[in-house]
Amino acid sequence: MNNEILKSEVEAYLKTYFNNREGYDKKIYEAMSYSLNIGGKRIRPLFFINAYSIYKDNYKDVIEIAAAIEMIHTYSLIHDDLPCMDNDDLRRGKPTNHKVFGEAIALLAGDGLLNEAMNLMFEYCNKKDNNAIKACYLISKAASASGMIGGQTVDILSSGKNLSSDELKFMHKKKTGELIKAAVLSGAVLGGAKEEEVKLISEYGDKVGLAFQIKDDILDVIGDSSIMGKKAKSDIENNKTTYVTTYGIDVCKKLCRDLTEECISILDKINGDTEGLKKITEFLLERKK
Ligand code: IPE
Ligand code: IPE
Ligand code: MG
Ligand code: MG
Ligand code: MG
Repeated sequence: MNNEILKSEVEAYLKTYFNNREGYDKKIYEAMSYSLNIGGKRIRPLFFINAYSIYKDNYKDVIEIAAAIEMIHTYSLIHDDLPCMDNDDLRRGKPTNHKVFGEAIALLAGDGLLNEAMNLMFEYCNKKDNNAIKACYLISKAASASGMIGGQTVDILSSGKNLSSDELKFMHKKKTGELIKAAVLSGAVLGGAKEEEVKLISEYGDKVGLAFQIKDDILDVIGDSSIMGKKAKSDIENNKTTYVTTYGIDVCKKLCRDLTEECISILDKINGDTEGLKKITEFLLERKK
């Protein structure tokens, strides 16, 4: 399983997804397509496909679910960058959606992407079995107020305040961890993983999701905007409590390393080829963007 090839297959699917929309509402498709296709690591689709591929070898049949997850993620970025949220001008190396299309269209583009993801998942479930419903429910739930939106809520409310370590962990696990965990977990469930393995993948997803946001916090402080394609020091400007403000860079780096090690040892317990997931896990520890 070559992640570069997988990534380009997901991108090819996304690239043409909103093509040939010619109505009076054309602008919304341009706006959705813009943020979806200007870059991004595509980590969530890769998590999903790699987890699915532990159990099945027909990943091309589930590309639409990988795309749905990326649509949800992209919507969250468009909204996260809005002036009423983090107020950022740069995303994926390009001006943020609201800088190009204006705030109202950016808001709608986010809504549209979230809804399109649901359309894709319902359509898929319509032709498939119970595992498809279970997998899509995991994704939908992760994006909900009990998942990503709840985390973003704590993030917004906490600006300028000090969070306890419990609140901080809650925020990170929800705003970023839930969708990452759901990507990997839904892939395994859709592939037909047994209960015991679902438990292990769930533990893995928890840890890799937390490590991802801690690394994101680190990059906000020491990262290079031109490499990341988004503004460094955004958290500092917005007075956010992050893992770095709470624990310092060195402890955060160690936390990331420890979580990565724990992730790898969980993957070692899984019966099947987890090389793809291991590669992603290690890549995320070293990433510069
Ligand atoms: C950034 O996500 C937002 C967070 C949830 C931390 P990514 O780092 O995955 O952003 P892209 O998709 O590569 O642009
Ligand atoms: C974003 O967290 C989480 C979601 C978009 C759900 P951040 O605000 O830290 O993400 P970046 O740093 O802007 O990518
Ligand atoms: Mg934010
Ligand atoms: Mg942000
Ligand atoms: Mg950040």
